[in-house]
Parts: sequence; structure tokens; C-alpha cells
Amino acid sequence: MNKPVTTDNVQPNDLEQFWMPFTSNREFKAAPRLLVSAKGMYYKSHDGRDILDGSAGLWCVNIGHGHPRVVEAIKAQTDTLEFAPSFQFSQPLSFDLAQRLASITPEGMDRIFFTNSGSEAVDTALKIALAYHRVRGEGTRTRLIGRERGYHGVGFGGISVGGIPTNRKFFGPLMNGVDHLPHTHNLEKNAFTKGQPDWGAHLADDLENLIALHDASTIAAVIVEPMAGSTGVLVPPKGYLDRLRAITKKHGILLIFDEVITGFGRLGTSFASEYFGVTPDLITMAKGLTSGYVPMGAVAASNDIYQAFMDGSPEGIELFHGYTYSAHPLACAAAVATLQVYEEEGLFQRAADMAPYWQEAVHSMKDLPNVIDIRNIGLVAGIELSARDGAPGKRGMEACIKAYEAGLMVRITGDIIALSPPLILEESHIDQMVEITSNVIKELE
Ligand SMILES: Cc1ncc(COP(=O)(O)O)c(C=O)c1O
Repeated sequence: MNKPVTTDNVQPNDLEQFWMPFTSNREFKAAPRLLVSAKGMYYKSHDGRDILDGSAGLWCVNIGHGHPRVVEAIKAQTDTLEFAPSFQFSQPLSFDLAQRLASITPEGMDRIFFTNSGSEAVDTALKIALAYHRVRGEGTRTRLIGRERGYHGVGFGGISVGGIPTNRKFFGPLMNGVDHLPHTHNLEKNAFTKGQPDWGAHLADDLENLIALHDASTIAAVIVEPMAGSTGVLVPPKGYLDRLRAITKKHGILLIFDEVITGFGRLGTSFASEYFGVTPDLITMAKGLTSGYVPMGAVAASNDIYQAFMDGSPEGIELFHGYTYSAHPLACAAAVATLQVYEEEGLFQRAADMAPYWQEAVHSMKDLPNVIDIRNIGLVAGIELSARDGAPGKRGMEACIKAYEAGLMVRITGDIIALSPPLILEESHIDQMVEITSNVIKELE
């Protein structure tokens, strides 16, 4: 039998066929960066170099790479039951996983709907919000409110409530009846804040203006990332999320926290909702749920929302929504094992314990050339560089490539470098990350 083809033994001789997502295909294919294996905090590149993972892959590999417990769980599940449908049938692990998840979601948010990605989790949450009002006889509530600079994945729902112009402008009129809150990013007021900025809670009051304009009876839900990650690490001002919660509650509007990045220990707690002490009605999650080992997303809904469907729907299917691969057995196995690793290795607490060292380390780069802001929370940091005249994003992209050449993987959004390492990191990794990042920034024109 032929040896299975794997990342460390295949040598592609043509890169043309794979249309790469969110990538400049032309630039990448001229100078590819291929990762062939990974263990712990490091990737191995195709040219044999160790690359320190400063971004947990794509904000997801929270337990580090190649954890034997999760690897074994996936292998064992493949041998036992590789697939079972979740429509009208199911398999035991899906219920076990939902129960385990419910034990770490905020109190009263115990109902779990499984998806395969963050984008699907977002679209699912939006659909649950719309259908929830309808089953309760408030079908006029169809409007959705997102926020400028929000990233909620790439489904039509997600890009409609999202607030990143390049992710929206190519794709037509998007969903009807969507409005946006202003973003909270303000360099004049908040540059170089450690943790949550003092200024900006009042920006939540704009929701009152949108409600005055549209009337609460037309609004189904507000969706925000408690900490906006993909758009460049925007930390919520103190009191901002509490105000959003108070206003939505007052007007019968559901609040959705998109925790695809902030879930599973990124801020040192199971969810950001716990960190900020604000409980929404729906939480979307993905990434850290399986630590990225198998694709999976989920929505946690409040018990009241679930109950409204059970009480308010006619006999039969209560929610006409789901995916072929909802609660896929391999994803369930990976998620259960990942949750066990979080607990046994105390990784959420570990992230909280490392956060002060992390904060001081990243802020040590304050005086480097072109650095116009550094912000941080939990084990996340954003380093904002000034844009080159007439070439926004160029300096950021160069930083990403130079860092990779120097042995560090970072994420970039425009000219913002984002760092969000696996939660298993040691202080020495933080030192290495800061050293490489500093050298890269110094070298940039
Ligand atoms: C807050 C947020 N929501 C949704 C998504 C989309 O997740 P996915 O890429 O798994 O569809 C992301 C991805 O980065 C995200 O950061």
C-alpha cells in the first residue's frame, strides 16, 4: 500500500490550482511560505526552520500543536464512528460535548447548537435571533445591528453585520435591514492604554439613537465581538459592554457576543463574557473549541431562547436550520479532548497568570519607529504601525513576511500586527516574540 500523503512528505510541483483564501495569490505563489509540521509552540517550515507561533495559527490553537491527548482522541473516533447524521439521529458524544460546554458557558446559557466554523456560528445566531422573536409573536423584529470594524466571518449574514469595507464592497447589497454602531477605536484618546481604555463607554449610547430611528419593535439583535480581534485588537472601553447590555435588555433586543476569538481562555477566562461580567443572550464560538484540530463552531443560547422555541413552535421541527456536519463525530472527539486539556492543564488560569508579563513585554516596544499604538488584554496584543503615505497595509504586510523569515508567525490587519499565542507559552517565548517583533519593526522602512 502507498504511504499516506502528508504535509511533511509531499512536494507540490504546482501551486496554481489552490485558490487561496484571504491571500494575495500572486505574491504568495511567487514566494511561498509552507508549514509542514508543528509541535507545541512551533511550526516547522518547508525549508526546515522553527517558526514560533505568535498567532495560535489563526487565533485557534490554544492548547499548542500536536497535543497527544487530542490527536489520540481523533484517531480513536475515526476507528469507531467516522460519521453519523445529526438530523433525526445523533451520536452520544454530541450530547456529552454539549453538556461539558454548558458547564463553562455563563449561567443560564446551556443550549448548544453545533456548526463547522465561526462564520456558520454567526449566521446561526442571527437566524436564531430572528426566529426567536417570530415564535414569540414579535415577527416585526427583523433588523440586525452590528458595529463598524466588526468581523463576523464571511457568510452573507456575517459580512452584513460586519464592518470591514473590503469584506463587504464586492458582494452587492448584502442583507436588508442592517445598521451599525460606531467602532470604539480612538488613538487620540486611548493610544498605549494597558488593558481596557477609560474613554469610550458612551459610544454604546449610539444604540439608543438607532432605536429612536428604527423603533425597538423592528430590532431583533445586536452583535458585537466583546474584544474585536481580526480588525486589529480593539479592546472595549470600560463600561461599554455593560451599557450595551442594559440598553438591549430595556428594549427587548437580543445581545449576541461573537466569541469566536475570545472564547476558550484567550482573556484568561472561559469566555470574555465572564471576564467582563456581562452575560449576552447568545454566544458564538469556534476556533479554540477544538483548538483548530478539527473544524467546529457552536452557538450557546440562553435557556429562555431555547424554551421559547419548545413552547412556541407547532409540533415537529422547531428550528429549520442545521448542517450536514453539525456535531461531526471527529469534531466532537477533538472538542471533548480539548476541553479536558484546558481543565487538566489549567490553561485559562495560565493565560490569566501570564497576562501581566505579556502586557509589560509588549508595551516595551512603545518607542520603536512607526509604532503609533500598542494595546493588550489577556493574551492578545495589537501593535499599530503608521501607514506609509499612499500605501496603507504595505508596512504591515512587510512586517508579517520579515517576521516569518526571522522565525515568528504573526497576524496582520492593515498596518496592525496582532499577537495571540497558544496559551501554553512560557515567559521565554514571550521574550523571543518581542525580540523578533522589535527587530522586524526596526528594520522596516
Ligand atoms: C469574531 C469572529 N467571528 C467569526 C469568525 C469567522 O470564523 P471562521 O473563519 O471559522 O468562519 C472569526 C474568524 O476569525 C472571528 O474572529
